[in-house]
Amino acid sequence: MTNSRRTFAIISHPDAGKTTLTEKLLLQGGAIHLAGQVKARGAARRARSDWMKIEQQRGISVTSSVMTFERTDADGNTITFNLLDTPGHEDFSEDTYRTLTAVDSAIMVIDAAKGIEPQTRKLFEVCRLRSLPIITFINKVDREGRACFDLMDEVADMLALDVCPMSWPVGMGGVFEGILDIASGRISRPEGPKKEFLGTVDEGAALPTEVAEELELAMAGYPEFDLDAYRSGDLTPVYFGSALKNFGVTELIEAIAALAPPPRPQPSEQGTIEPENKEVTGFIFKVQANMDPMHRDRIAFMRLVSGTFKRGMKLTPSGLGKAIAVHSPILFFAQDRELADSAEPGDIIGIPNHGTLRVGDTLSERNDVRFTGLPNFAPEILRRVQLKDPTKTKQLRKALDDLSEEGVIQVFYPELGSQWIVGVVGQLQLDVLISRLEAEYKVEAVLEASPFDTARWLKGDDKALRDFAEINKMNLAKDRDGDPVFMARSAWDVNYQQERNPDLAFSATKER
Ligand code: G4P
Repeated sequence: MTNSRRTFAIISHPDAGKTTLTEKLLLQGGAIHLAGQVKARGAARRARSDWMKIEQQRGISVTSSVMTFERTDADGNTITFNLLDTPGHEDFSEDTYRTLTAVDSAIMVIDAAKGIEPQTRKLFEVCRLRSLPIITFINKVDREGRACFDLMDEVADMLALDVCPMSWPVGMGGVFEGILDIASGRISRPEGPKKEFLGTVDEGAALPTEVAEELELAMAGYPEFDLDAYRSGDLTPVYFGSALKNFGVTELIEAIAALAPPPRPQPSEQGTIEPENKEVTGFIFKVQANMDPMHRDRIAFMRLVSGTFKRGMKLTPSGLGKAIAVHSPILFFAQDRELADSAEPGDIIGIPNHGTLRVGDTLSERNDVRFTGLPNFAPEILRRVQLKDPTKTKQLRKALDDLSEEGVIQVFYPELGSQWIVGVVGQLQLDVLISRLEAEYKVEAVLEASPFDTARWLKGDDKALRDFAEINKMNLAKDRDGDPVFMARSAWDVNYQQERNPDLAFSATKER
């Protein structure tokens, strides 16, 4: 059943507690039995290849992964959760943006002591752009934190969003006594791994006067929960808790099951595709090469949009034009990968391939759908790639093509001159590039300053493009797909050219 899926991402600032919360969610879903395994697994994986050393050295997570777990509620309904992990570092925003195109909702984790930090703000804006429903989890309430009202107001102000308190901490910091579930009036206490209840407020469980007053203010000061407003991305329900102490996590997972939307319809050139459609369709939002360097594997992550997928099914990728049989689709669980015999809308399957599948590809049974809404972003940093050994041009080209496809970098091949240019959204991507070139492609390269500052995709009719190219050959390049790109020396340059060439669009994003 389609409505039994909840596909979501956790967004947060590094250190807010995303890993800890992920662990606890998986634990509650019975997917793992010991806390600490998400990290342990990460460490084992990191040990495997060179580029992941960067991840280790800097204590950040570079790749995003998928974790699936199930949970049966009190009424016996089983919900399948697909949790897409997003890299917490701002440098990897492009990869993160793409992950957010594959989810139906997001959990925003905020550190109660720190509030909302700039990176989270950026992610939040992307969620707003996509009208993604967001549940807010204010973490670490077991420690001394900022005032609850300040945190809630910060969330509300950040993007003109309504906030609605669903729970409230009873005391914070040293006097933390529990979490009050506002709807039921039950107070759970932070003792032991299991939840214990102080009782309900109606039954006379004593609330400290201070909390009772706060609560009254909160109830009067914020709107009531409204499912439609949440689902359309205009209101965020706020839960307080502690991932570390496993507190408020049950409430959170119950909220995802009860409130978070089931798989959504997806826009396409042919109109909206509903999850209930019989035809199997999906799109690739991520490709990861060399996950296992021993096997040089390459996995494309597909979000299923409609139909019931069966193993061995023939699907046509839009970029290829002919059908491929999907014999070994992979489902990702907390600790394992498994062959997927079937998958439903909202599920993510990994498809091993040798370069036939690319980010932005639509897969469909009849090759009659093209999904939209998976943009490339204009790079903010451009560098010229200089080979140390000039005989390795072919290897470099292959590597740049592969890595641009994965979304690690973007690559531009200038019309004039032979030096290729790479573009990234954040500095760290450049380190990853150099390290992966060496480890996986045996190519040593250095990055030099580029004469260009930014890039814009050009769109217009053939004549307009030709006329522009004649005068601006020095500033023209092709991207990996052969599409024309204007390489600009400054933002001013872009504006100037845009004004002089009203027939051309200078676009900061490109649909993949
Ligand atoms: P991240 O994935 O968002 O980067 O955060 P992570 O879960 O790794 O948590 C960052 C730090 O915050 C960790 O401490 C973690 O134990 C702590 N933490 C997470 N949730 C809570 C909470 O609810 N309360 C308190 N008090 N701390 C919390 P660390 O010392 O940096 O790492 P470690 O030694 O625990 O591994």
